[in-house]
Amino acid sequence: MAPRNLPPGFLWGSATAAAQIEGAAHEDGKEDSIWDAFARVPGAVARGDSPAVAVDHYHRMPDDVALMRELGLDSYRFSVSWARVKPGDREPNRAGLAFYSRLVDELLEAGILPWLTLYHWDLPQALEEKGGWANRDTAYRFRDYAALVHEVLGDRVTHWTTFNEPLCSSLIGYAGGEHAPGRSEPRAALAALHHQHLAHGLATRALREHGAQQLGITLNLTNAVPNDPDDPVDQDAARRLDAIWNRAFLEPLLLGAYPADFVEDVREHHFEGLIREGDLETIAAPIDFLGVNHYHDDNVSGHPLPPDAPRVLRPTDYAHGNPFVGSEHLTFPRRGLPRTAMDWEINPDGLRQLLVRLGREYPTLPPLYVTENGSAWDDVVEQDGSIDDEPRVEYLLAHLEAVAAAIEDGADVRGYFVWSLLDNFEWAWGYDKRFGIVHVDYETQKRTVKRSGRVYAQLISEARAAT
Ligand code: NOJ
Repeated sequence: MAPRNLPPGFLWGSATAAAQIEGAAHEDGKEDSIWDAFARVPGAVARGDSPAVAVDHYHRMPDDVALMRELGLDSYRFSVSWARVKPGDREPNRAGLAFYSRLVDELLEAGILPWLTLYHWDLPQALEEKGGWANRDTAYRFRDYAALVHEVLGDRVTHWTTFNEPLCSSLIGYAGGEHAPGRSEPRAALAALHHQHLAHGLATRALREHGAQQLGITLNLTNAVPNDPDDPVDQDAARRLDAIWNRAFLEPLLLGAYPADFVEDVREHHFEGLIREGDLETIAAPIDFLGVNHYHDDNVSGHPLPPDAPRVLRPTDYAHGNPFVGSEHLTFPRRGLPRTAMDWEINPDGLRQLLVRLGREYPTLPPLYVTENGSAWDDVVEQDGSIDDEPRVEYLLAHLEAVAAAIEDGADVRGYFVWSLLDNFEWAWGYDKRFGIVHVDYETQKRTVKRSGRVYAQLISEARAAT
């Protein structure tokens, strides 16, 4: 069953994030993150759901690691909650740090490589109250927080990711307003984007000095496909999406410069005024890997959608108010591909194309890891408690095939993390959208491995047997 030609040593993993699984929002010294606060705003999260309890991973961590071991994972990608370990100006919270220390020990004991992300969208609310990511000082706070976590875990954790999908935590959080902190301020969003880049560079440099071995960042990258490839208006829409979604991140990180067309596109917001001398050099600190999150491509047009066209629901098409990618400037017409429960189109070859293109376009590209890929479905729990999630199995197999094909086509992809290990808090969608390869009953917190989880475990064991 294993996809052809995944190279020996290929890393098989699964991913989660602190705010989506931990719960224990106010225990052992943890304070509010922006997502705790945002979830209390009426209407911010579907059905008023909140991350306060989530899937109670904070209390069930050893059992969850046992589950990972059962699945045979090589690696587990998780994030540290900044608000748990260094809430605001207070002293480091030793109880919070001890939780991650125990998690790392459990993982190592189970033979699973810890793959740690420092920022997966949950800024301490105390820092948001000082301006959040729009405030340049937050970048320096992030560096100190990164150093603190490294001080405690650096003897055991080798793989460090600074940011997960900075696009979402800057533009969607500060301009789209659909994610925490729920602000709709274009200039603040651009400041957040630049300050997160800066924070990445500062932390990378600090962790390198402290001896961290493998340092990287995870970006959510897309193929921006012009709806009508011959229409210059659609071509320009695709160019603009590619600029703000992909190149505004890849180029400062890999080449030490923002793309000129992106700077021009956002000129009215005085983006350049945010950049200080030396910033770009800091941002381009060498990295050892690039994490790629990819779920779907984007079919883009520069024309308004006909009034009766069904809207494409996607995190940023919740972004009707987003001045950069909103419907006034860019639209996302449907092109007849099958879709997941997120209403995201399914096109596995897009993942292959993306991975191959990155290597071709960026000669300095470090090795790639697919740090997230997966699909949400309306899973049905059978009478006997089993979950036969055929569409998720198909999605998974097709995307692993795409990774194998990308490697055949020359992409240097070293591993794959399925999103997600567990059903969890899907941000503004609350608990409505299930991505897990393990089902969670939110009433009882019972975990049940879905068929996709069993298939994934089998693929891993076959790959291991073959090497
Ligand atoms: C990307 C994010 O990193 C993750 O937190 C989210 O749950 C998945 N995409 C699915 O939307």
